[in-house]
Amino acid sequence: MEDINSLINEACDWVEERLENAFDEELKDDITVQACMYSLMAGGKRIRPLLCYLSSDMLGVSKDEVLPFAAALEMIHTYSLIHDDLPAMDNDDLRRGKPTCHKRFGEGIAVLAGDCLLNRAFETVTCEVARNPSYARAAKELASLSGINGMVGGQSIDLASENKSISIDRLYELQRKKTGALLKAAVMLPYYMFETRFSDELALELSEISNCLGLSFQIKDDILDLESDVKTLGKSTGKDERDHKSTFVTLLGIEGAREELKHNIELCYTHLDNIRDMGYDVSRFEPVIAFFAGRDH
Ligand code: IPE
Ligand code: IPE
Ligand code: MG
Ligand code: MG
Ligand code: MG
Repeated sequence: MEDINSLINEACDWVEERLENAFDEELKDDITVQACMYSLMAGGKRIRPLLCYLSSDMLGVSKDEVLPFAAALEMIHTYSLIHDDLPAMDNDDLRRGKPTCHKRFGEGIAVLAGDCLLNRAFETVTCEVARNPSYARAAKELASLSGINGMVGGQSIDLASENKSISIDRLYELQRKKTGALLKAAVMLPYYMFETRFSDELALELSEISNCLGLSFQIKDDILDLESDVKTLGKSTGKDERDHKSTFVTLLGIEGAREELKHNIELCYTHLDNIRDMGYDVSRFEPVIAFFAGRDH
């Protein structure tokens, strides 16, 4: 099995330059752009671009064509973190090992930086659609997975579920949208861009595996909030319990959360096998699933 760190480095090499040049040179003095770049280049794990990269590889589609979409997705993810950390949401001081965007630039600029990254992301993908109209479906799905039916919808349920006891089904909906939706975008965007080449059966399996990957990733995030420490994670811990959040750990307890993680990781491997049976080389996804099961950051 390949080493996850070399895979992450490979994906970083692919996407980093594109992110560094997310804004035109003449905008770089603008304070909102500086805040965007501060958060964008603060040292995220780049898991979403990694999944986009591996999915393109597996499907045999052009990584050059997918790159602007992967960069846009990381911009959207970074915006979601900037807003998630605001005092009006989770009120966090530390992100990616640095002061959060609003701590460094103030709340107003942090709000604008999130807005700016979101708009820049869609400017990036719509430029690609103008060049190649067959990418329209991918742009539409990215918008949908980022919005009220996806990440924003999950964040809405997350905030509405503070200090409440919610059902396990509602928790699944929350987590599938909040975190699962952008991970699903990462796996599925290369498929949507070139969908006429692929079968409906493949679409179904990709959708299933991305659901399981998304849930696994967030369950682990909930576990790490309880068990890890600030230094390892680069963000504060113990906040879910303090803020009376509804998470896998607060609802099911640590052992229940571990069981859910194990179950979802097994499902990831099952769907990976199904994709392998369709003739695709899935081997580079194996270290990613292992990382999702065992990561400490
Ligand atoms: C953190 O995401 C927030 C969640 C959706 C769980 P990551 O763990 O991918 O954060 P970065 O990008 O590495 O900072
Ligand atoms: C945030 O979830 C997910 C987003 C959509 C940004 P969390 O609030 O659990 O993420 P962390 O723990 O602050 O990174
Ligand atoms: Mg949150
Ligand atoms: Mg948070
Ligand atoms: Mg968390």
